[in-house]
Amino acid sequence: MTTSQTPAPTTVLSQDELKTLVGQAALQYVVPGEIVGVGTGSTVNKFIDALATIKDQIKGAVSSSLASTERLQALGIKVFDSNEVNRLSVYIDGADEIDGHGNMVKGGGAALTREKIVAAQSSKFVCIADDSKLVQTLGKFPLPVEVIPMATQRVIAQFAAKGGVGKVRLKDGKPLVTDNGQFIVDVTGLQITDPLAFEAEVSQWPGVVTVGVFAFQRAQVCLLGTTSGVKTLIF
Ligand code: 5RP
Repeated sequence: MTTSQTPAPTTVLSQDELKTLVGQAALQYVVPGEIVGVGTGSTVNKFIDALATIKDQIKGAVSSSLASTERLQALGIKVFDSNEVNRLSVYIDGADEIDGHGNMVKGGGAALTREKIVAAQSSKFVCIADDSKLVQTLGKFPLPVEVIPMATQRVIAQFAAKGGVGKVRLKDGKPLVTDNGQFIVDVTGLQITDPLAFEAEVSQWPGVVTVGVFAFQRAQVCLLGTTSGVKTLIF
């Protein structure tokens, strides 16, 4: 991993301001005249707002969630169906955790399946995050797993055999339903020391739609918002 850093801001920035900073910094990876892959979450919302300032220089976006689609369209950015588009040069998204190799945990916003689809369609994954997301080993943040509803209890039992505690994510007292009509199981108590092997294994469990470990679709670049400016990590 190599790192570089922009000059430190003169005042201490809040987490929200750090998100704005990395959202704006991500514009340098947007290729003029092309379609950009856009993730989901509060950090990506800052990127979408920044993208709107150069919307005349891009063709549009492929979005990873209904929420991002709504925001992009409200700002006048055209959203393409992923099937209409071949390869994207860049995908920009946040993360719940990122390690020193660009492996991530994602899905805090329940959009992990579409995020993985758009990431797989893209040549470069640029992760934007504040420095609270940088970890040594994945597993501190509850691991989101999108699951077909009838499989939730068995998937939870399979995680229990690995020492994890899975819980169906709720919204307003009922299971949260994803953009794809499925449930999310959040798993705590895991130490994911081999993200590639973990992702490969869990992805094969019957009923698992997507596991929130992004090792096959890991980040090549991370723009990390720190109190000393935007740190660029290259993996
Ligand atoms: C959504 C995601 C987000 O990228 C992740 O949860 C980070 O979100 P935020 O930028 O709000 O911290 O994976 O499914």
